[in-house]
Amino acid sequence: MATLTILRYPDPRLHKIARPVAVVDARIRQLVDDMLETMREADGVGLAATQVDVHEQVIVIDTSQQRDQPLVLINPELVWRSDERVIHEEGCLSVPAIFEKVQRHAEVTVAALDREGQRFERRVEGLTAVCVQHEMDHLLGKVFVEYLSPLKRERIRIKMNKRTREELQERQQA
Ligand code: NI
Repeated sequence: MATLTILRYPDPRLHKIARPVAVVDARIRQLVDDMLETMREADGVGLAATQVDVHEQVIVIDTSQQRDQPLVLINPELVWRSDERVIHEEGCLSVPAIFEKVQRHAEVTVAALDREGQRFERRVEGLTAVCVQHEMDHLLGKVFVEYLSPLKRERIRIKMNKRTREELQERQQA
C-alpha cells in the first residue's frame, strides 16, 4: 500500500468529472487500498478518487468509531433520497481546516459495486449519509465550498492559496 497525494482546493483537477469503472480488477483494488490508507493517515472519514487525481468513480468512507468498517463505493448511484434534510458542518481533506454548514438529504440509499465488484445497496443516515453525498459530489467535480456564497468561497480560495504558498516557503527554507 502507498499513501497518495491529496489535491488541494482550488486545484482545477478537483473539477474533473470521473468516469465509471469498467472492470473491478487488481488495479482498482490497489487504488481502493491506497485510498483507504491515505484517508486513515489524513484522519478523514471519506475520500473520492478525484481527490487523488484519479478520475474514475471510486469512493472510500469510514465513519465508524474505531475506523474499522470501510465502505467502498464503486460506480455509486443514489437510488433513493429522503425528503428530510439535515444541515451538517462539513470539512474536506482537499480544503483542510475549513468547516462550513451544508444542507443534505438526511437519508439516502446508495447502489454501488464493492471492492470485489459485487453490486449492493445500502441505506445510510447521519454522518455516513452526509459523507456519501459529499464524496459523490467530488466524482462530479464539485467541492462542498461550491454550496457557499461566492463571497465566502472567495475568502476560502484566498486562504487556501496563502496557506499553500506559506507551506512551499517553509519547505524551501528547510
Ligand atoms: Ni471532500
